[in-house]
Amino acid sequence: MARQPIARPDFGGPFPEHIAIIMDGNGRWAEGQGLRRVFGHKEGIGSVREITTECARMGVGSLTLYAFSVENWKRPGPEVRYLMSLLKKFLIEERRTLMDNGVRLRAIGRISDLPAGVLEELRRTEELTKDNPGMLLRLALSYGSRTELADALRHVVRDAKDGLIAVEDVDEETLRDYLYDTTTPDPDLLIRTAGEMRLSNFLLWQISYTEFYVTDVCWPQFRKTELLAALRDFAGRKRKFGGLIADVAPPRRAKES
Ligand code: IPE
Ligand code: IPE
Ligand code: MG
Repeated sequence: MARQPIARPDFGGPFPEHIAIIMDGNGRWAEGQGLRRVFGHKEGIGSVREITTECARMGVGSLTLYAFSVENWKRPGPEVRYLMSLLKKFLIEERRTLMDNGVRLRAIGRISDLPAGVLEELRRTEELTKDNPGMLLRLALSYGSRTELADALRHVVRDAKDGLIAVEDVDEETLRDYLYDTTTPDPDLLIRTAGEMRLSNFLLWQISYTEFYVTDVCWPQFRKTELLAALRDFAGRKRKFGGLIADVAPPRRAKES
């Protein structure tokens, strides 16, 4: 299927190049319907598909979805197993949609924690989509920001010990080079569904100057209309990055790939 031309909505203000989403409230949505929690996860896949496709069509540069945190391994075995099987199914079944929309998929997190079968499908989907020209879809899987920073620190210390970097030269940009993804610019907009006012260990370093948008809508019900509401809200924000002039560029951005 031919890709549709990019149609970026104009709300009279800035448009986010990178959107990050904490997809929360699957369980609450299901329980509200008198269903078991897993049905919320299943229904949430529909939102992932719709939001990914809409963002790609609007010309968003990168979309980062928090799909599974390092802390989520603490959940009951049956729920974790269900989430892993859903992830594997998603990685196989969404290939067509990703290709049709020119989307590149990449994962961030402690990927080696994933079951072998999931990891295999993840690598296949990354490989299949790697040359797509459109949006980058980053899936945060077994992701934790503190883990990411600890992993980075361990590598910095090792490279310093090996004489590859000088301790005096370590600065913000050095640290960036040791994070899971060294090339994607920081998110401009962070959306959290289901109303909680917390980060739950997501992108602590990268969101220093990101605009937050929290909605009470649970993830399975977060669709195009809710995305447009978030974009409209973002268009009205005045970003200053510590300066006095609104809408100036951020002081530092990660290197473009
Ligand atoms: C988000 O929904 C999905 C994951 C964290 C994997 P939840 O499962 O956290 O749903 P609630 O927050 O319990 O409603
Ligand atoms: C955050 O949601 C993690 C993901 C969306 C994958 P959680 O449901 O795990 O967060 P808490 O436990 O409410 O902070
Ligand atoms: Mg939750």
